[in-house]
Amino acid sequence: MLAPMLNQLFRRKPIADLVPEGQEGEGKDGATQMKRTLGAWDLIFLAIGAVIGAGIFGAVGTAAAGEMHDGQMVRAGAGPGLVMSFVLLGVVCGLCALCYAELASMIPQAGSAYAYTYATLGELVAWIIGWDLILEYAVGNVAVAISWGNYFNTTLDAFGLSLPAWLAHGYGDVVQQAGAGNEEMQLLLTNAPHVAGIPILVNLPAFLIVLVITWILLLGAKESATVNNVMVAVKLVVLTLFIVVGATQIDTGHYTPFFPNGFTGVWQGAAIVFFAYIGFDAISTAAEETKNPQRNMPIGILGGLAICTVVYVLTGLVLTGLAPWQELNQHGDPLAYALENVGLPVAGWIVAAGAVVSLSAVLLVFQYGQPRILFAMARDGLLPEQAAKLHPKYRTPWILTIGTGALVAIGSLVVDDDATYDLTNIGTLFAFFLVCIGVLVLRVVDPKRARPFRVPFVWAVAPLGAIACVFTMAGLPPVAWERFALWLGIGLVVYFLYGYWRSKLRHAAASPPRQP
Ligand code: ALA
Repeated sequence: MLAPMLNQLFRRKPIADLVPEGQEGEGKDGATQMKRTLGAWDLIFLAIGAVIGAGIFGAVGTAAAGEMHDGQMVRAGAGPGLVMSFVLLGVVCGLCALCYAELASMIPQAGSAYAYTYATLGELVAWIIGWDLILEYAVGNVAVAISWGNYFNTTLDAFGLSLPAWLAHGYGDVVQQAGAGNEEMQLLLTNAPHVAGIPILVNLPAFLIVLVITWILLLGAKESATVNNVMVAVKLVVLTLFIVVGATQIDTGHYTPFFPNGFTGVWQGAAIVFFAYIGFDAISTAAEETKNPQRNMPIGILGGLAICTVVYVLTGLVLTGLAPWQELNQHGDPLAYALENVGLPVAGWIVAAGAVVSLSAVLLVFQYGQPRILFAMARDGLLPEQAAKLHPKYRTPWILTIGTGALVAIGSLVVDDDATYDLTNIGTLFAFFLVCIGVLVLRVVDPKRARPFRVPFVWAVAPLGAIACVFTMAGLPPVAWERFALWLGIGLVVYFLYGYWRSKLRHAAASPPRQP
């Protein structure tokens, strides 16, 4: 009884069963085969589209200033030492990116870390990671949508327009900021319209943008990549503007002390601003729609990461030179605030408008990635297979795309962004950890398989990457760990009620093909 069960839990999906390169359009699988249309530059742009977003436009403020709740310190701020947080995270993500690149080029299948772990660590761990990736993609996008809403409101201000406050702030955000002592939010909690004693507080812009993005994605991958390329160009221009214009107004007095909370501040700041780096892995979910993934995947992942690290270090240096670090979390739009703080409101508005575009690009890539991970899970029988049907005309996983859009839109109406950053980060770091381990496992159990991209010094790089992930996770507040444990617990219940019984691998093993 126990042996067959363990056998299934750790049964690995043969890599040869994963979709081979070059199989296009109507494959043997008919309605569940996607088109290969994306090239290396599409992937680099897709990576930048996913990476530069709410982390650098929003979470950066909390990372610099830290966070208090009801008089208690939730996390220490990095202050100007934020620059060091970015450098450390660049190293952490660089190690993980190398591991991702090896697996993504070896296993070019939709599903990202989920597909890799199925082939390396077996079904149970694969399920856990697939479930966990919902935190990275769908929950992460809730935070991005909220940040989009904040910068959208700033942009409206530039035109002398504004929404009623109860339509511009979600309930969770208001409660969190009121608890941190923000008087404006305390008042809003009292003055908002109430229904049955409950204050009605919703982030309407966040909700609406998610609906628009979902609609764009239903039209298909190539169209989405084209829209994304334009948005990426805009975000690079806007951050360059922030760096160049802001650099002329730096007050070096803000750099003293450079590490106000020592290494603890740098570490705990890194744990939240890690959000800014999430995304380079998201493009591996497009492997099934990529031309020559063995070559293009590593170029896309590593190229995108390198560009983003340079941009972050410069942005962090300028940001903490424009305003006292303690003030940087008092506004949902810290970059625009910092420019206004030095008397450059017009530049602040331009940056706010650019942030709106940038964050749309992130939403696009994550809303794109989530259905494809679920798609891979459904195709393996771990989720209901009907959900993996492709749209007859657009060849997109339309049921999962709409389902993801609905969940993210509803979440972004009411939840709190800092808690969402934390939960996303812990889930993502755990996935990165397993990817690092997976590379090593595969080197041992399948050493001969062709590796178009090999991690150099793998026995140093992969273990260091795994340790670095755990160390970064440890910088998150205890409540993030509790929520993460709860989420994984729910996932296990779902697996044992459904996927364990319906797994295609289970049924394939139970009834091997007959010899002719
Ligand atoms: N890295 C992405 C962002 O910062 C998730 O929005």
